[in-house]
Amino acid sequence: MKSVTVIVPATSANLGPGFDCIGMALDLWNELTVTEGDFNIDTKGEGHGDIPSDSRNLIVTGVEAAFLESGKELPKFSYESTNKIPYSRGLGSSSAAIVSGLLAGSLLSGANLDNETILRLAADIEGHPDNVAPAIYGGCRIGVHDGNTWITDCINLPKNLNAVLFIPKFYIDTHQSRAALPDHISRADVVYNLGRVALLVNSLSNNHLNLLETAIEDKIHQPFRSANIPGYRAITRAAKKGGALGVFLSGSGPTILGLTHGREITVEYEMAEAARLARVEGECITVPISYKGVAVIKKS
Ligand code: HSE
Repeated sequence: MKSVTVIVPATSANLGPGFDCIGMALDLWNELTVTEGDFNIDTKGEGHGDIPSDSRNLIVTGVEAAFLESGKELPKFSYESTNKIPYSRGLGSSSAAIVSGLLAGSLLSGANLDNETILRLAADIEGHPDNVAPAIYGGCRIGVHDGNTWITDCINLPKNLNAVLFIPKFYIDTHQSRAALPDHISRADVVYNLGRVALLVNSLSNNHLNLLETAIEDKIHQPFRSANIPGYRAITRAAKKGGALGVFLSGSGPTILGLTHGREITVEYEMAEAARLARVEGECITVPISYKGVAVIKKS
């Protein structure tokens, strides 16, 4: 095989209290073609001009990791990506790059790695599993490290759940955002999050959507991160007023996500209007949850 094309979905991590352990895939995709030949990286669409076009590019990291795992020598490749996942906005663009690179590298090396291995490699590169797991498997996933490797399981979601996204224009660097979080958490705050993450999984699995507003509350990361996002409170309030069942910061932000089960147009309107009044530039879109993860669409 000399060339492979894969698609990979956007993901939203944390879902409020599930910091570093819960995430879900969204129906918004990047497409990547890796072809044997002179090294070149061509990025079209989201992130064009900002995503590194040298070996720092996380797609290259993914391909290299797959070849290392396979024990095969790494040939030179050219990389062409067409991106719809907004870059550096808390929608899993880094994970998408790592996971798509791993799958492409897995096929091009002939290693044909299984999903468990791709998860191990991807989560080791990223450092946490909550974006890479749903990017690989689709749907809503829990990810934990058992001291040896990464384990994931799915959370069943109610049908027809959507995500209304307000995507600000500015970028947030996840590494910096993580570094700014406190190292120590009080027992009271741990209990606060534990209860809510249990409630979140239970309410999603059992379609108890009336509990989501409480279940997505968090004291571990959102209070610190949201302070740096202009309009956060107003946009969140507006999404709830419009009918969102639960509203949270997507990953490390700046995207604000309202989970909906109907009323999407109203929620979109209210969020966009609140952002306009708060003078925060950005766009509002509705995307369904994706039950599919990374996939190969062409090989030759
Ligand atoms: N769990 C990670 C964080 C997700 O919140 O930093 C980053 O997208």
